[in-house]
Amino acid sequence: MDPSGDDIGTNPSTEPSMAELIERRLGRRAAMRGLAGVGAVAAFSQPALAQAGGPSTLTFKELAHTLDADQHVADGYDMKVLIRWGDPVMPGAPAFDPANQTGTAQEKQFGYNNDYLGLHPLPAGDRSGDRFLMVANHEYINSNLMFAGLGAGRDANLKTSKAQVEVEMAAVGGAVIEIARENGSWTVVPSSKYARRISANTPMDISGPAAGHDLMKTSADPAGRKVLGTINNCAGGGTPWGTWLTCEENFDVYFGGDSSKLPLPEMQKRYGVGRATGYGWFRHVDRFDLSKEPNEPNRFGWVVEIDPYDPGAAPVKRTALGRFKHEGCTYAIAKDGRVAFYSGDDERFDYVYKFVTANPWNPNDRAANKNLLDDGTLHVARFEADGRVQWLPLVQGQGPLTSENGFASQADVAIKARLAADLLKATPMDRPEDIETNPVNGRVYVVLTNNSQRKPDQVDKANPRAGNDHGHILEITPKDGDHGATEGTWSIFLLGGKPGQDAGARYHRATSDNGWLSCPDNIAFDSKGRIWIVTDGAPTAAGIADGVYGADTAGFGRALTRCFYQAPTGAEVCGPIFTPDDNTFFIAVQHPGEDAGSTFEKPSTRWPDFKDGMPPRPSIVAITKKGGGAIGS
Ligand code: FEO
Ligand code: CA
Ligand code: CA
Repeated sequence: MDPSGDDIGTNPSTEPSMAELIERRLGRRAAMRGLAGVGAVAAFSQPALAQAGGPSTLTFKELAHTLDADQHVADGYDMKVLIRWGDPVMPGAPAFDPANQTGTAQEKQFGYNNDYLGLHPLPAGDRSGDRFLMVANHEYINSNLMFAGLGAGRDANLKTSKAQVEVEMAAVGGAVIEIARENGSWTVVPSSKYARRISANTPMDISGPAAGHDLMKTSADPAGRKVLGTINNCAGGGTPWGTWLTCEENFDVYFGGDSSKLPLPEMQKRYGVGRATGYGWFRHVDRFDLSKEPNEPNRFGWVVEIDPYDPGAAPVKRTALGRFKHEGCTYAIAKDGRVAFYSGDDERFDYVYKFVTANPWNPNDRAANKNLLDDGTLHVARFEADGRVQWLPLVQGQGPLTSENGFASQADVAIKARLAADLLKATPMDRPEDIETNPVNGRVYVVLTNNSQRKPDQVDKANPRAGNDHGHILEITPKDGDHGATEGTWSIFLLGGKPGQDAGARYHRATSDNGWLSCPDNIAFDSKGRIWIVTDGAPTAAGIADGVYGADTAGFGRALTRCFYQAPTGAEVCGPIFTPDDNTFFIAVQHPGEDAGSTFEKPSTRWPDFKDGMPPRPSIVAITKKGGGAIGS
């Protein structure tokens, strides 16, 4: 047990504390020994401050941990549901009728399980901040909460009829909605010309090194360059030229059927294809049956680029960014104008990646950036014990990425990115979720949600806990502040869990009984550089819902997490994003009612409508400060 959960944030400087620097060089325990323990650590401590937020710059009265059917926010803030599953998106969308839902209706309505949210100003480049195209991912479906008669639990999801599968295929993917603010309140603009639904049926292009490769060809697409749809769109990101990146995460569970004759069994195993089937799609749609269309899963696990300003443009799967279970894909601009894209592969013991474009982006000619994502270098991270991070290039012909090892072309590297990264000895992480760059300090925050399976002999400096149930957050400083660099340094920002109870939990020493968190997933930064962390997997047995926690990243309040919002039971919180003025904080409340025993007929919550017969509805929520002003100010 690490008794020292209080050494983060005790230095008023924004630079790493002496304790942190020594820890980076020597490792934490050696540092403790070297500093002769308690007395030396105490020398770095700050006196506790008395104001409401303690040393934090966040002044709201902290919310108490809760777990019930409704959502809760700190006193002094308002919540408004912006849009719910089934609400109209496209012109002519029928009214939501959950008892008689159809695929045709769903293709025009807001989809299920909203995850990533992005804001694109309208018109493009506008700085007034009152009108946006909001893009939303629809990650997955909870069949048993969407339809009557399926019963409870995961097995219920396999019992769907053909008509229900049609609804599900229309309910995933994403949406573009136009939103406007009047008198401080946001509404969806009806029948916007930009409105769009993306689903598992939307025709899209495949570009980059894997386009046209034999492994990408199917009976419906013998050229390997066109695919229908995108699935399990978890988090995402944007580009400097204003497009939306939506990321395909756990695509494998949408496939089923006999997997015994799949080609490249080593690759299939590494991607989990054929391991477990989550849905009934393969029973009704041949391309999801592995025995009928063995290459179809190779066409998922990509980053998809969509132009929200051009509803007629086909989405494009950008294969240069590699195939894995992408959580998100967020950018930072290198000093020479090239663009770096950070992406986590969210599975236990998987990796952190960075793609850097070959060419700089062109701020003066949007069209010139159209295919920038097709040419560049994908890297994977190795977190060294001495506090350095190295970004290792995944380039065919370099190092072990040879024909003899199964990498005859860059297409092989892209399609089998996980296997290529294995050969480069990347660092296996505790489920990399969101990766975001702090706009104020330029550091990159890597959110590691948990990894209960890490054994004591698998612990390393960047993943320092065995049986990591609560996750942690790393902070990377790129060398010379340059996101194009292939080196940097890293340290730990916080380690989740309850201080004093969960081994190794580390926050600011003033973190309260309500301020600790578990299973960090997505993050956002406000314009002051403060981090807002949303969770997926809160310890419900302890009566705690998933929620939102804010903290300073510098100064006296560094890593002093404070509870701001608690979700309805069964829900995780996703998609955190601030308007540029910090006055609205949007969150995506995903899978409300996803609890053991919960069904369409008897859900654990009917949030947000609380009407008989109406199931729980994943929804986007706008949080504002009563009377206006910046969130958290
Ligand atoms: Fe879909 Fe990694 O959460
Ligand atoms: Ca996630
Ligand atoms: Ca998650």
